[in-house]
Order: sequence, then structure tokens, then C-alpha cells
Amino acid sequence: MDRIIIFHAKWVLFFTLCCISMKFRVMIRGQQVPCLFFMGDSLSDNGNNNMRITVAKANYQPYGIDYPAGPTGRFSNKKNIPDYLAQSLGFANPVPPFATATGTTVQKGVNYASGAAGILDDTGGALGDVISLNRQLLNHQITIARLLLIRGPFGVTSYLNKCLYAVNMGSNDYVNNYLLPQYYPSSKLFTPDKFAQRLILQYSRQLKSLYKSGARKVAVFGLGLLGCIPQVLATTPANASGCVDYINNYVQLFNNRLKPLVDDLNTNLPGAKFTYINITSISLSFNLSALGITVFNAPCCIVSSGGQCVPNQIPCSDRDQYIFYDNYHPTDIINQATAARSYNAISPLDASPFDISQLAQQ
Ligand SMILES: *[C@@H]1O[C@H](CO)[C@@H](O)[C@H](O)[C@H]1NC(C)=O
Ligand SMILES: *[C@@H]1O[C@H](CO)[C@@H](O)[C@H](O)[C@H]1NC(C)=O
Ligand SMILES: *[C@@H]1O[C@H](CO)[C@@H](O)[C@H](O)[C@H]1NC(C)=O
Repeated sequence: MDRIIIFHAKWVLFFTLCCISMKFRVMIRGQQVPCLFFMGDSLSDNGNNNMRITVAKANYQPYGIDYPAGPTGRFSNKKNIPDYLAQSLGFANPVPPFATATGTTVQKGVNYASGAAGILDDTGGALGDVISLNRQLLNHQITIARLLLIRGPFGVTSYLNKCLYAVNMGSNDYVNNYLLPQYYPSSKLFTPDKFAQRLILQYSRQLKSLYKSGARKVAVFGLGLLGCIPQVLATTPANASGCVDYINNYVQLFNNRLKPLVDDLNTNLPGAKFTYINITSISLSFNLSALGITVFNAPCCIVSSGGQCVPNQIPCSDRDQYIFYDNYHPTDIINQATAARSYNAISPLDASPFDISQLAQQ
């Protein structure tokens, strides 16, 4: 009899623990990390360039045509990758742009991304005053100073340790630097291999400085196939692949060094959880017909010679059938698919060593 009671008590304890932990899981499910920070370029920008003196902005129609608030500065017809990642991570609202984030909202995270910006300080400069990665890192220091005021001097570092960071940089170091010899000297000064090396050296310093300021969980996005974007295809003859092979080869020199950099950071920085998101793997393995895509290399909106949407022109009506919204940027449906697969990787090539859902749980 006693034994049965003890037995029962064990089960009661088990069920209690189980249900407390389930309840706890459900709570965490609400928002899987306390805060979320984005650094990057126009693939991530959600309004930081709006008030700046630059042509690299998207706060006009037809950008945002499907977004509830209309044009916001997102280079998309609707949402961008940070919007979908925030949603997957259980955030009720998109992460605000640094330019307008105020008060205690910065505790949940900030988006520092700036269209046309790059790893190198001069990248995108021909398009105006854009916020390079170095300046985005300085802006993060401003947020940290605000957090110290809001949360007090103790615990900010351990708070940041739990936040998730997504850094998606480097495309413009090619399309708005290396590949534009009329504005930037880099291709005269460096071979493609030396240039990739130079980018990785600078990126390595920047990611280490992010770590030093408290970041531990960092998703680093590799570059996509820049030789396949409509702007490149409009100006350079394509190869049999349908893309400009030499440009994809340049980008590969960068990506091939980025993955080892991520591994190196994990090995050498205590507690670091960096992960590499392989955009090439992710985009090549989309089943485009299952997604309903029918137009692969033409933009949905009417574009200027610079490749952005011409203001106030009516875009295609079947936006979910296009890969590209303008000559550079994916449509909402592609952003959603890319974010979904970086959050829950299907192949081990997509994200390593963690996908973003695993990174959140680290
Ligand atoms: C790609 O096209 C360029 C220009 O037409 C050509 O010079 C090059 O050899 C081609 N590359 C390959 C791999 O076919
Ligand atoms: C990314 O994925 C592509 C395509 O699957 C693969 O060829 C490449 O090796 C991967 N890159 C890295 C750095 O893992
Ligand atoms: C892609 O999706 C289509 C339509 O759903 C399906 O018929 C096809 O088998 C899929 N292809 C692959 C390679 O999975």
C-alpha cells in the first residue's frame, strides 16, 4: 500500500514537472529570445535610409504595395527577411529601425540595416550617405548606452548574450563597389581573390567587435548568386547557365572564406555561437514551381536604369509569381521562403552548425 502511494507520488511529481515545463515552453514559444538585432543592407533595411541623403531608399510606391502600412523603406512589395525571422522567433511586432526606435522598445531589438551599405566603409558611397557596417556597429553602442540607462548598469551584457543577431552584409561590396570600376578603384587595386580576402579580414574584425559588445548568438548570412540578378543580366551578357558566371565566382570566393571564418570564431571566442546561413544552398533548392513562381529573371516593377522601382508606376499584379520585385531585391514570397528555410533548415548545407531555430535555443 505504501509503495503504491509512493509510486503515485512519483507520478504526480512527474506530471507536475512535465506540465510546468510544458507551460514554460509555451511561454518561451511566445518569444524565443528576449531581443533581436539586425545588421545589413537593403535586404534587411526597414527604414533607416528614409531621412538620409541617398538614392538608396524605398519609402515610395510601389515599394510596400502589399505591406499594411504601405511604403516604409523596405525594399520589397511587402515584408523582408528580418520581418519573417522576427515572426518565426515569436515576436509580435517587427523590429523597429534604429532611425526611429525610441524609449524602452529598444529592449526587444533594433534593425540597423542600411540600403547600399557594405562591409567596407566606402561601399555604396556613390549612392549617397549610407550606413556602413562600421557605423551600424557604432549605432549598436548607442543602443547599449540606452539599455544601460533603461536596465541599469548590471546585467546588460548577460541580457545581450541571450539576444539573437542576424548579420547579412557583403552584396554591395560587389554590386556597389567591386563591380563598378567607374566609381570605385577596388577592382584595379585587387584581384577578385585578394578582394574577397580583404572583405573577410574586415568582416572578421567587425564580427569580433560585435562579440566584444556582448553578442553570442549570431547568424551570418552568406551572399546569394549576384551573377543572376536582373540588374546584372541587364548590363552584362549571360553565360549558358543563364547567369554571369564570373560574378558568381567572385561571390563564391567570399562565401568560401566566410564559412571557415564562422567556424574559427566559434573555436576561438569563448561562448560564441556563430552560424553560417548558406543563401546559395537555400535559393538553389527552392522548388519554384511548388512556390508558384513563373518569372525568374525579370523584375515585377518598372525599373529605372539604376535598377530600382520607378516611383508611382503600377507593378505587376501577380507579385507572388516573381522572384524579383525590382532589379536587385526578391519579392515577399521569396523573402518568406528564405527566412523559413534559414529558421528551419532542410539540408545541413543550408545552415551550419545551427539553423536559426536552434541558434535561439543555444
Ligand atoms: C561566359 O561569358 C563570357 C562573355 O560572353 C565569356 O568570355 C566566358 O568565357 C564565359 N564563361 C564560361 C564559363 O562559359
Ligand atoms: C553552400 O551551398 C552550395 C550549394 O549547395 C554549396 O555548393 C556550397 O559548398 C555551400 N557553401 C558553403 C560555404 O558551405
Ligand atoms: C516541385 O513541385 C512540383 C509541384 O508541387 C512537383 O510536381 C515536383 O515534383 C517538385 N519537384 C521536386 C524536385 O521536388
